[in-house]
Amino acid sequence: MAKARAPGKAILFGEHAVVYGHPAVAVAIEAGVNVTVMDNKEWTVEDRPLDPIRHPHLKSIISRMPQGSGPYSFQISSTLFSAAGQGSSAALSVAAHLALSNQIGGSSNLIDAAKSAHLAEAAAQSGRASPTDTATSALGGCVVVSSSLPPMVKHVFGAELETSEGLRTWDVGTIDLPDNSNPPSLVLGFTGNPSKTGKMVAMVADLISSNPERKSDLDSIGDITTVGLIALASAEWEAVGMAMNACHDRLEALSLSTPFLEKLIASVRPYSLGAKLTGAGGGGCMMALTRDPKRVAQMIELHGAKAMISSFHNEGAQILV
Ligand code: PMV
Repeated sequence: MAKARAPGKAILFGEHAVVYGHPAVAVAIEAGVNVTVMDNKEWTVEDRPLDPIRHPHLKSIISRMPQGSGPYSFQISSTLFSAAGQGSSAALSVAAHLALSNQIGGSSNLIDAAKSAHLAEAAAQSGRASPTDTATSALGGCVVVSSSLPPMVKHVFGAELETSEGLRTWDVGTIDLPDNSNPPSLVLGFTGNPSKTGKMVAMVADLISSNPERKSDLDSIGDITTVGLIALASAEWEAVGMAMNACHDRLEALSLSTPFLEKLIASVRPYSLGAKLTGAGGGGCMMALTRDPKRVAQMIELHGAKAMISSFHNEGAQILV
């Protein structure tokens, strides 16, 4: 038997702009996915035969294991909101790669797990996926993804993907917080409305092609992310929160927010250093950076959404057994 755990993620700054080569910063959250793998007579998920349509990520991860591996059973448990933009499919893929590799007796390297999980995400999303979710889930902490990394970021690996629009490449790195940085908490608020990342990315692409001047909003997100990164690297939390707010204003200008997200964000701002939508928008989650996580979670729940409190700095994926 082998068991692995991988965390979900929240994007602090840079969503959507990262699709156009600007940097994005994501952090691993406390909640995540556990995957247990055991010897079995056939490939199963939760005691049912593995259906590649229902479980495209697992199918893809298995395809990169040594030939003749298995069959195994998968048991999966998750503390993430589902279809909420918290990176649950990335966490599932990373944990499944690590548990399977460990069971087979092969390498259980985190970078291999991140790369295999990125290919699984791409296979399940018609060939389009940035490595943000999978890298953050594997490495933990604060992860930066960009076409070229700013100087304060430690380079960890390069990712590439053959897409119908040609080869896409990214650099993936991490930022270490200074000692005694005393980070605030994160609170995520799930609207309950799932949102499709591909649809929102396509909406932004349409907006830019019919109004090319709107690309300036994405360029602004890129600039805000660079400023936010400098603040993060020196643990200037008020400036991190201000960059989050500024990032949200640009995302809202791109029509990625919704009235419900706006209501949640406005309700928590008085108790937060910063609050914004996180991920693709159009539903999904908002997030707040705060020293008063209980109050912020109460405000989110009072307004009819689901709240989740997380510490700011969390471990990446790990093998448990
Ligand atoms: O899937 P989500 O909700 O975490 O959003 C992904 C972030 C985007 O920048 C919108 C898309 C991408 O591939 O980076």
